[in-house]
Amino acid sequence: MLKVKSVTKKFGELTAVNNLSFDVSQGQVFGIAGPNGAGKSTLYNLITGFYKFDGIIELDGKNISGLPTHKIARLGIARTFQIPQIFESMTVEESVNLGCRFGNIGKYDPGYSDEMIAFTSLQEERHSKTNLLNLLGKKRLMIAAAMATKPKILMVDEPMAGLNAFEIKEMTALIKKINQEVNITIIIIEHFMKVLTELANPILVIENGTQICIGSPEEITSNPEVIACYLGDSHDA
Ligand SMILES: Nc1ncnc2c1ncn2[C@@H]1O[C@H](COP(=O)(O)OP(=O)(O)OP(=O)(O)O)[C@@H](O)[C@H]1O
Ligand SMILES: [Mg+2]
Repeated sequence: MLKVKSVTKKFGELTAVNNLSFDVSQGQVFGIAGPNGAGKSTLYNLITGFYKFDGIIELDGKNISGLPTHKIARLGIARTFQIPQIFESMTVEESVNLGCRFGNIGKYDPGYSDEMIAFTSLQEERHSKTNLLNLLGKKRLMIAAAMATKPKILMVDEPMAGLNAFEIKEMTALIKKINQEVNITIIIIEHFMKVLTELANPILVIENGTQICIGSPEEITSNPEVIACYLGDSHDA
């Protein structure tokens, strides 16, 4: 459903994403791993229309390269951010409602917004200001607001970062539930290899913007280049 074809992004002299090509199929949890600065978040910024780039990105056969972010959102791609991006003066409910409006212009659906608040276990906090949420709450809220746009694809950027072991289990279960119960295709960037290999298949590993390998969790974790560039120092982190 999502096709990335020979995509390259340069920031001045730096090639942040270097000739990447891959396909994400309907229903997959597609994983992306790679060391700090590998170009993972930049790739998300290209898919969601934040920057111009070379190459082509297609959603369901339609070329979405160069479209503005709101058009891409309305076509069905939603994302969360590595550092929580929330509107601090709003309540949880208002924030999720905003997601609803952003995704489905003219089709505001308060029922669906309620459903997403319940789905992400935020009922008790629904009237709280978002800045009062803890980190897990903020991450849940980003997911609820993204889900409220009724996406075909949800892209999450390091959802486990900063969470404790218990919270990681909760977040892992939530991502599985989104994929399996709501049938949303997921793309997940994650540093914790244990979590990534539990959730995702296939997994794409990149370094310096370039593909190192793509394959099943077993293929990735036994690939010598992946072990050398990435797993060697951080897979138990
Ligand atoms: N807007 C920008 N302008 C200039 N350079 C940028 C910009 N955004 C990212 N970069 C650079 O591109 C490279 C890739 O950054 P990116 O944030 O995509 O890495 P990442 O794989 O997400 O890393 P991390 O695991 O630390 O989140 C880095 O060297 C970064 O400094
Ligand atoms: Mg990043």
